[in-house]
Amino acid sequence: MEQKNYIARLYGRRQDRPLKPRQARLMETLLPRIAVPDSAQAGPIVPTTLFPQTDQIWLEVGFGGGEHLAYQAAHNPDVGLIGAEPFVNGVAKLLARIEDEGLGNIRIHFGDARPLMEALAGGSLKRIFVLFPDPWPKKRHWKRRMINPWFFKEAARLLMPGGELRVASDIPDYIAWTLMHARGAPALEWTAERAADWKNRPADWPQTRYEAKAIREGRTPAYLIFRRL
Ligand SMILES: C[S@@+](CC[C@H](N)C(=O)[O-])C[C@H]1O[C@@H](n2cnc3c(N)ncnc32)[C@H](O)[C@@H]1O
Repeated sequence: MEQKNYIARLYGRRQDRPLKPRQARLMETLLPRIAVPDSAQAGPIVPTTLFPQTDQIWLEVGFGGGEHLAYQAAHNPDVGLIGAEPFVNGVAKLLARIEDEGLGNIRIHFGDARPLMEALAGGSLKRIFVLFPDPWPKKRHWKRRMINPWFFKEAARLLMPGGELRVASDIPDYIAWTLMHARGAPALEWTAERAADWKNRPADWPQTRYEAKAIREGRTPAYLIFRRL
């Protein structure tokens, strides 16, 4: 996959400030207990082996501070959630919330979501979320964008029929970019029938920290839902 060359830069910053003592402890103690096994060593991953109690499995790519992931885990106890994030402060924040709220249905991949996606068994996911991916506005950086033909192909492979891919962005160009690439992925159908369907955040979709910042700064997010045919 040509994209792998860009992994280091795609991440952006992996850490912004030192972890608090409790966060550092959770990285040492809780993370190993709920980490997705390293596919480079463990081989292909069948998500139901991570969550033996359910076959409803959702993946969030780039969960940031984990607000959306933790909310979904708390409100959907019958669902297993996998979150992928290379930013250590975000992972540590989510770990604290998992401990505080006793969330037992989250597994974390601390790193690049893309090798994880490639390692997951086809047709194994019910939902994939990519909320406010890094926009990489400069044309020469577009190759670093998470959404691209490879991503749509992988999403189509991973989702079971009727499964959903949810993408949000506050950057008009990134929204247009996503819809353009979606046209090259006929197995994923954009579900919007009227403007309200993409202008309004669905009720089961909580606001993330990044989204709150975007709205404060006067940008208007779009919420795109694609269904696996
Ligand atoms: C703009 S932030 C949005 C975070 C969060 N989804 C939100 O809405 O608050 C984009 C996130 O994507 C993560 N990210 C970037 N490249 C990634 C990759 N290859 N795999 C997984 N996450 C990635 C970044 O670390 C960052 O946390």
